[in-house]
Amino acid sequence: MAVARILIVDDDPDTQRVLGYTLTQEGFQVLVAVDGSEALRVRERERPDLILLDVMLPKLDGYQVAERIRADEGSTSHVPIIMVTAETDIEQKVRGLRAGADDYLVKPFHPAELLARIRSLLARFAPRYAETVGQPSASGRVFAFYGAKGGVGTTTLAINAAVALQRDQGRRVVLVDGNLQFGDHRVFLDLGLDRKSIVDVVVAPTIDQDLLKSVLIHHDSGIDLLLAPPSPETAELVSAEQHHMAAIIDLLRQRYDYVIIDIDKRLDEANLDVIAASDVVFVVMTADLSCLKNVRLVLETMSQLGMGSGRVQLVLNRSTAYTGITIKNAESALRRKIAYQVVNDYRVAITALNTGAPFVVARSDSALGKSVVDFVRQVARLDVARADAADLAPATT
Ligand SMILES: Nc1ncnc2c1ncn2[C@@H]1O[C@H](COP(=O)(O)OP(=O)(O)OP(=O)(O)O)[C@@H](O)[C@H]1O
Ligand SMILES: [Mg+2]
Repeated sequence: MAVARILIVDDDPDTQRVLGYTLTQEGFQVLVAVDGSEALRVRERERPDLILLDVMLPKLDGYQVAERIRADEGSTSHVPIIMVTAETDIEQKVRGLRAGADDYLVKPFHPAELLARIRSLLARFAPRYAETVGQPSASGRVFAFYGAKGGVGTTTLAINAAVALQRDQGRRVVLVDGNLQFGDHRVFLDLGLDRKSIVDVVVAPTIDQDLLKSVLIHHDSGIDLLLAPPSPETAELVSAEQHHMAAIIDLLRQRYDYVIIDIDKRLDEANLDVIAASDVVFVVMTADLSCLKNVRLVLETMSQLGMGSGRVQLVLNRSTAYTGITIKNAESALRRKIAYQVVNDYRVAITALNTGAPFVVARSDSALGKSVVDFVRQVARLDVARADAADLAPATT
């Protein structure tokens, strides 16, 4: 079986040695380049399967190297690039991703984190290598539910869609509460503060499948849950710098058909990590002006991050509520199709919340229940492979 070949581009001999050792131990074949021009030459000659690219390099920097590689390969091929940087701010990240990187890592990083990212990219771009690194192929779909504004119903849709995917489609589903500070899945699903949460995952010395299994909660509705920290103070234990979310998602997608993650509107490091790891981001919105403004900004940011339009889809919640803005108005303001609609039914929604029973179970016959099942059926048919391919094409607006 083919062994994936990884090109390490770094001018520091210590880094080369450490990374080289880690990757060789894991069964990868390692190539090394010490500056930007050499990186281009080695890539041309050896055609590596993945490139680990330091930003600070002599001659050409990492951004320039990534840009040249992308320009050279055109739309016919795509070598996954992980940008390695010492800087943490989001601007740098956006710049790196714009230059053509598929992912990035901030130094110092843990070897497990590096390996998780390499495996996830190899699985995405070259599925034939997934087996060679001793992991089942990463086949589960990752769907993020992103609220363009607070209170638009993101949690309601994420929970009910997750349950409907399990019940209606018979799939294995895990739901992650990505609202780290104020996650409210415990309330929506009638679970106490004593239940284990993502904090129990990140404080452990190693994050692996056995650990996750011991922390996930099986809910009566049929889905498994990874709950948010029980209090806002403990939320910061989930570290953006160590890419905890990305590592967890990567493990979950190996065991479930669907990984559903509920996140809020912040475009901070943790959320950007979730977004980057998602096959599709469902942007949940309502038809009002402040929401439209946010959606426009979010669509712009996502396209800057290189997310093709197939990977970002709009969901209009409470679509039948009168707001003075029609779907047509909203679509023309956004210059984007609203892909899905979920009807307005406050009574069913709020009763479900207050009783802790998802309405797709407790009120499956209601208009709202049917509307979410309908949404889920469309989603289950989504050709994510195609969304991915669209994503490789140059971003258009
Ligand atoms: N389709 C709907 N029709 C009527 N009411 C709804 C609908 N969806 C959600 N709601 C109601 O809207 C309120 C906010 O819902 P929810 O908590 O899911 O939103 P959110 O976007 O996750 O909010 P937050 O910003 O607090 O995370 C709740 O009272 C919920 O019952
Ligand atoms: Mg919410």
